[in-house]
Amino acid sequence: MNKIFKMDELDQTKVQEIQEFIDKVENKKGDIIKILHFAQEHYGYLPKELQLYIARAVDLPASKINGIVTFYSFFTEKPTGKYTVAVCMGTACYVKNAQEILDEFARLLKIGPDGLSEDGLFSLISVRCIGACGLAPVIKINEKIIGHVTKDMVKGIIDDIVRQERGD
Ligand code: FES
Repeated sequence: MNKIFKMDELDQTKVQEIQEFIDKVENKKGDIIKILHFAQEHYGYLPKELQLYIARAVDLPASKINGIVTFYSFFTEKPTGKYTVAVCMGTACYVKNAQEILDEFARLLKIGPDGLSEDGLFSLISVRCIGACGLAPVIKINEKIIGHVTKDMVKGIIDDIVRQERGD
């Protein structure tokens, strides 16, 4: 039996904007990736309830929507921080101590490898090769790539962002 989606758990204003976008898309099933991209940009992430809403709006099975969301790494089902720290765990980075860097971020931000910091400022994820192996080990903070990262640099990277946020 299908789970009844709980609209009241969703931000109604954002859902309305997503519905307006869906209404304008002619080929809703064919352009489902485009719709999910818009939904994620507007909502910040794609919670299960929103996936169910979209599934009904475009007349596709919820399992199909969830399959797409979980297949593509650029979609996320969890809320993300203002800054997403992506630590590359591809081979070139892994052999240059990427795990140590991931662990240090997790320790200092007090979050798990796929978690969100308590203040909502940071999320931490591990990703596959991001195509900058010459700079290994590499991290990406939102769109900014930082190469040759060491464990000792992690605190400074976090502090810079926090300072910037405080306007220091
Ligand atoms: S393995 Fe990390 S950028 Fe390629």
